[in-house]
Amino acid sequence: MNEHVASPRASLTVGELARRAGVSVSALHFFERQGLISSDRTSGNQRRYRREMLRRVAFIRIARSVGIPLKDVAEALNSLPGGRTPTRDDWQHISDRWRRLLDERIRELHRLRDDFTGCIGCGCLSIDRCTLFNPDDRLGREGPGPRRLIDPSPSGDSDPDAHTGE
Ligand code: FES
Repeated sequence: MNEHVASPRASLTVGELARRAGVSVSALHFFERQGLISSDRTSGNQRRYRREMLRRVAFIRIARSVGIPLKDVAEALNSLPGGRTPTRDDWQHISDRWRRLLDERIRELHRLRDDFTGCIGCGCLSIDRCTLFNPDDRLGREGPGPRRLIDPSPSGDSDPDAHTGE
């Protein structure tokens, strides 16, 4: 009945994979250099990706979108027997393993959301609360970046007089 429905090809060019996966060709090359995906070569030395690479790219994108570091993504993919593409069970095990990381990430995002409206210790001294929480950019002596977000304690605690070096 469905004899006119074309069955999907088993392998994809890099352009086809990029289009279907919603990532750039350069991102695919990067993933490949990192060992996250792999391709075969045609006799003309062109890359061909097995369709299951779509699933791997989706896995990578989802993991990255929730802040899982690329090295942890690579570790998870490399831990699968025979380098297989993650199955539903694999995803269950991997996400269980990442739960602590994800919980930490959620806490961090909550903190970021709550703290970003106040002085974050970035050295700009541009809001009135900076003079209370970071007078003369004292937090800048501890290092670069938004000190109160990078390390909320002890200098980032709510006592503006704490750890002023005096
Ligand atoms: S927000 Fe930049 S130093 Fe306060």
